[in-house]
Amino acid sequence: MAAVMRTGFCSLMFLVFTSSQSLFERQLTVQLNPGSTSPPPGGDLLHVRALGDNDTLHYLFCSQGAPTLLLIHTNSSSSTLQVDWPQFLARNTSGSLRVEPESSILYSTAVVFSRLLEYDDVNDTADPTSDLFPPYELQNFTWSRLNLTGAAARLCGAVTNTSSGVLCLQLSVFESDGRGQTWPRLIHTANSSQLEVWIDGLLPRAARSRFLLELQAVGGAYPLSRVEVHRSIDDEYMPSIFKASHWVSAANGSSDVQSFVQWKPVAYRRSDPVLEDAMPCRHSDPQPQSAETTAAASGLIQAFYSEPDTFGLNVSFGLAGEPFYNSTKFLSWTVLVGVGSPPVDSFSPLVVAIMAVGLGTPVILLLLGGLWVCVRKKAADSTTAYEPIN
Ligand SMILES: *[C@@H]1O[C@H](CO)[C@@H](O)[C@H](O)[C@H]1NC(C)=O
Ligand SMILES: *[C@@H]1O[C@H](CO)[C@@H](O)[C@H](O)[C@H]1NC(C)=O
Ligand SMILES: *[C@@H]1O[C@H](CO)[C@@H](O)[C@H](O)[C@H]1NC(C)=O
Ligand SMILES: *[C@@H]1O[C@H](CO)[C@@H](O)[C@H](O)[C@H]1NC(C)=O
Ligand SMILES: *[C@@H]1O[C@H](CO)[C@@H](O)[C@H](O)[C@H]1NC(C)=O
Ligand SMILES: *[C@@H]1O[C@H](CO)[C@@H](O)[C@H](O)[C@H]1NC(C)=O
Ligand SMILES: *[C@@H]1O[C@H](CO)[C@@H](O)[C@H](O)[C@H]1NC(C)=O
Ligand SMILES: *[C@@H]1O[C@H](CO)[C@@H](O)[C@H](O)[C@H]1NC(C)=O
Ligand SMILES: *[C@@H]1O[C@H](CO)[C@@H](O)[C@H](O)[C@H]1NC(C)=O
Ligand SMILES: *[C@@H]1O[C@H](CO)[C@@H](O)[C@H](O)[C@H]1NC(C)=O
Ligand SMILES: *[C@@H]1O[C@H](CO)[C@@H](O)[C@H](O)[C@H]1NC(C)=O
Repeated sequence: MAAVMRTGFCSLMFLVFTSSQSLFERQLTVQLNPGSTSPPPGGDLLHVRALGDNDTLHYLFCSQGAPTLLLIHTNSSSSTLQVDWPQFLARNTSGSLRVEPESSILYSTAVVFSRLLEYDDVNDTADPTSDLFPPYELQNFTWSRLNLTGAAARLCGAVTNTSSGVLCLQLSVFESDGRGQTWPRLIHTANSSQLEVWIDGLLPRAARSRFLLELQAVGGAYPLSRVEVHRSIDDEYMPSIFKASHWVSAANGSSDVQSFVQWKPVAYRRSDPVLEDAMPCRHSDPQPQSAETTAAASGLIQAFYSEPDTFGLNVSFGLAGEPFYNSTKFLSWTVLVGVGSPPVDSFSPLVVAIMAVGLGTPVILLLLGGLWVCVRKKAADSTTAYEPIN
């Protein structure tokens, strides 16, 4: 009895404990085109400073060329960003964007959204290597100015400034733990940012078109060279998705992960999706990429890195049998980019409550049952005790 109670109680405490989250916070400061007197031609540069107790995360998001997010972690609470604008805009030298003092930099990671690929899936096999159309080079898109809302920024681009379809990215930087408002409702921490990518209204080049997105990850000492697929929890936040992919550096031991790109293998066919609008996606193995090509594609990479160590992969949307792109002409996918270990799912409060009820009810019943037996026994004892008097 006591053992059962203890087990139930311990499971309960374990659940409550694992579902609670830390209270680490960062102070965010948002700056658009820091140090520039006028909006720079060719695209904006966003700087979000996320100040911790004695470290700083510098998030840089830029559309000079292919959209790029650069994350620099320093061990100082007073590190600063320096941009030499004429050099930065010339896009032919490294060192035009720096974080000082340089000795405070622990490491850096960047993600470049380099290309959007489209293929004609005539036989509905979802084989992304056949019947490819010429790729959309995102560096050649016409990008809007950044639309800022707090510590979030939206960037939309199109093939030309007159085409109707757009590819948009929405960056959100967080000051504390939480969970995304929209599916896939990724868990985030104060050490991570979220990027949602979507295409809306882009005209497909075939009735049975499917899409791929090519990403390049640039690292300092430890490039992101492998993807680990982890199990994740199925709950009301993320129904029927059991996996999370973590693109991490190959530095030995998973506890040593310095930075990551994390996603769930799911995309959505509508901007306000229901469960049926979810679509599985797959990724290819990270491949080493040409440093020159990446630097040429992204102004931010060119400006910060002298020797960008780059790995790239493709994410393909939709499996055989899934509806084609032109069923909705919309596609959205979300990643988390951050430092330290990727956040892992914990049980949601609803699941905890259900499990608590599931585990708690038998315990209460046992307790009540035990009490009832005791009371009955006592009553019986009392009855016998009084019998002789009768
Ligand atoms: C970092 O900050 C914490 C609390 O503010 C302090 O206790 C700790 O000594 C600091 N560490 C370093 C290396 O400065
Ligand atoms: C970079 O480009 C600018 C103008 O386009 C030019 O003046 C400068 O010499 C170039 N620098 C290098 C290192 O090529
Ligand atoms: C930050 O780290 C660098 C290199 O690891 C070290 O030289 C520097 O002293 C550190 N700075 C602080 C403020 O801890
Ligand atoms: C599609 O199927 C047809 C007939 O089976 C075949 O001839 C064709 O090569 C296939 N196309 C692709 C891209 O697999
Ligand atoms: C994209 O722009 C680059 C640099 O301006 C150019 O070399 C390349 O040919 C363009 N690609 C396409 C597909 O237009
Ligand atoms: C700016 O972004 C907000 C959401 O972040 C959106 O509601 C608004 O329509 C956007 N404005 C423009 C001009 O795109
Ligand atoms: C589109 O770009 C062309 C030149 O590149 C320019 O003349 C035209 O005004 C632009 N249109 C809009 C709506 O911005
Ligand atoms: C975020 O980074 C800070 C400083 O490196 C660390 O103390 C904290 O534990 C991290 N939080 C998470 C959730 O990883
Ligand atoms: C997809 O596009 C083709 C023509 O390109 C059209 O015939 C077909 O009806 C479209 N399908 C949907 C579901 O809109
Ligand atoms: C990882 O550790 C193994 C042995 O423990 C070693 O052979 C390998 O070179 C290490 N890899 C890296 C990237 O440090
Ligand atoms: C993405 O797919 C395209 C088409 O198959 C291929 O040319 C390209 O090399 C792939 N990119 C990466 C990084 O694997």
